[in-house]
Amino acid sequence: MSQTAERIETLLKERRTYQPPAAFKRTAHVRSKKPYQEASRDRLKFWAARAKELEWFKPWKKVLEWNPPHAKWFVGGKLNASVNCLDRHLKNGRRNKVALIWEGEPGDRRTLSYWDLHREVCRFANVLRDLGVKKGDRVAIYMPMIPEVVVAMLACARIGAPHSVVFGGFSAESLKDRINDAEATVLITADKGYRRGQVVPLKRNADEALKETPTIRHVVVVARDGKGSEAAGIEMQPGRDHWYHELMSRASPDAKPAVMDAEDLLFILYTSGTTGKPKGIVHTTGGYLTHVTATTKWVFDLKDDDVFWCTADVGWVTGHSYIVYGPLSLGATVVMYEGAPDWPDKDRFWEIVERYGVTVFYTAPTAIRAFMKWGPEYPARHDLSSLRLLGTVGEPINPEAWIWYHQHIGGKRCPIVDTWWQTETGGIMITPLPGVTRTKPGSATLPFPGIEAALLDGDGNEIKVGGGFLAITSPWPGMLRTIYKDDQRYRDTYWGRWPGKYFTGDGAKRDRDGYFWILGRVDDVLNVAGHRIGTMEVESALVSHPAVAEAAVVGKPHELKGQALVAFVILRAGVSNRPELADELKQHVATKIGAIARPDDIIFTADLPKTRSGKIMRRLLKDIAAGRALGDVTTLADPAVVQALKEKYEEQES
Ligand code: WT7
Repeated sequence: MSQTAERIETLLKERRTYQPPAAFKRTAHVRSKKPYQEASRDRLKFWAARAKELEWFKPWKKVLEWNPPHAKWFVGGKLNASVNCLDRHLKNGRRNKVALIWEGEPGDRRTLSYWDLHREVCRFANVLRDLGVKKGDRVAIYMPMIPEVVVAMLACARIGAPHSVVFGGFSAESLKDRINDAEATVLITADKGYRRGQVVPLKRNADEALKETPTIRHVVVVARDGKGSEAAGIEMQPGRDHWYHELMSRASPDAKPAVMDAEDLLFILYTSGTTGKPKGIVHTTGGYLTHVTATTKWVFDLKDDDVFWCTADVGWVTGHSYIVYGPLSLGATVVMYEGAPDWPDKDRFWEIVERYGVTVFYTAPTAIRAFMKWGPEYPARHDLSSLRLLGTVGEPINPEAWIWYHQHIGGKRCPIVDTWWQTETGGIMITPLPGVTRTKPGSATLPFPGIEAALLDGDGNEIKVGGGFLAITSPWPGMLRTIYKDDQRYRDTYWGRWPGKYFTGDGAKRDRDGYFWILGRVDDVLNVAGHRIGTMEVESALVSHPAVAEAAVVGKPHELKGQALVAFVILRAGVSNRPELADELKQHVATKIGAIARPDDIIFTADLPKTRSGKIMRRLLKDIAAGRALGDVTTLADPAVVQALKEKYEEQES
């Protein structure tokens, strides 16, 4: 039985359901199914009403202009995202409200009010303008999880310079490729960050990347531990590199926001696809902000006295949408934590929840599975009674993990929102509304009002009940507008399969209640610990090593990470398999891409199973990696190769 079929089997057996608790429902923003009805009656009117909750310099003329596959939302409207996230809260009674509660891994703490954040953002907007950054110029950001990363993003938004945030765990090489693809002129980084008690040498990595980034004119470096505590050994290149605190000390706290068209770029965010080259996902201003603001308000039910903690890194879309733009646009109080969940001990998250009275907590199934493994005694050490709502994102959550989360973190009183979405969708797409939706562990339930999703077969026929490809059948405000500098790839990847309908790359199942159960990727993209990794990217990293002739990378089920990478490697002629070579290759991938892409297993082989036309049969490699019985091998050029590989893998595993 294939992995997908197995999952469908288990999910079909999942019959537990949870009604929204009465106490929750009483105060929820959404208490009835009315928004679903309104949106299905008139989707554009529904989204226009959501957009009206933002502050616009100039109203739009038309809600949607749809020339498949290109959409324009709120045509002619003018706004600025930083004004929506900051300035409007200075006038509505929130100016001294805490915007950010930050905690560093070593235990240092800072809070910034909306007014504080506004001043910092304006100062940094002036700094960027003084460095010559103009509207439309791209700015790369490579930073730890410190308040300055939020300042940097919002300052870019203020002056209309699209930001490209590169996750601080990515390697110098990944940073270089992203800077060069975006042709960024400025890089914002930090001397260091902290992770599991170790120093992450961001500036040193950046310097490695900067050797081959001809478009970069200036580098701004934040001293993570403040002025006077700059990391030792940092080299500052005169004329190019500047300390953040020095530039900021001279900058004015007033900066006029750029008037942005609804369709002007807000940011580019790179994500993995099926080829070796990451895709620069393009998001614009008006539609994106409308989508993330509406979903933050309704899915997380955020009110003024909530304390919202999304544990993602700002380097991923989850951080963009649900640490920065969504919650700040709503004027919420946001918790931000720099480090690992098990540092100094495995109760760090629960200590933070207790210390700040977190009310809404949003994390990934991979983290929940780790909490389960560590045991319920860690959350039990803390008072978690402030929590009233829990969320998950990034990968399918297995019902057992859902139930554990519900019981040990949520004290059986908190609804759980399992939110399905992607870097490309900008915001949450399929999700419960916590005061309305009956939830089922393992199901993301139903499309958000105004979102139209369907399961299709290969020919585009709709499957009402059963399994199929997950598609979004009409444009939505937060959708990606294109792939940066590669519109053809945008057309091919997302819209090539069924005209006018968006292909998500995910397989899913729909039950008799119309609930969606996401099964995972159907292409050559893996989901490792909630992060997308293209198998091709890892393969090209491997073959760039002098010892490797050919490589094929597949996923295997992993208890904590969901999936783990297994690499099948053919060595070059004349290279012998030294004992330390496997570790060297793993490290090589980590250096090329980042630690998240490090394969768990490397299998050396003399041959790979190929079809007669020379295509690697990944399906068989997946079966081998998962230890499953081999499927159909009749199209193989040489069936003996597979049997040999299987034996070898089993021997290595035992
Ligand atoms: C892929 C998108 C969107 C934020 C984090 C990941 C998987 C995401 C769920 C969920 C099952 C999920 C899908 C999707 N995914 N959320 N609730 N249930 N699968 O963003 O890196 O763009 O990855 O993550 O496979 O396509 P991303």
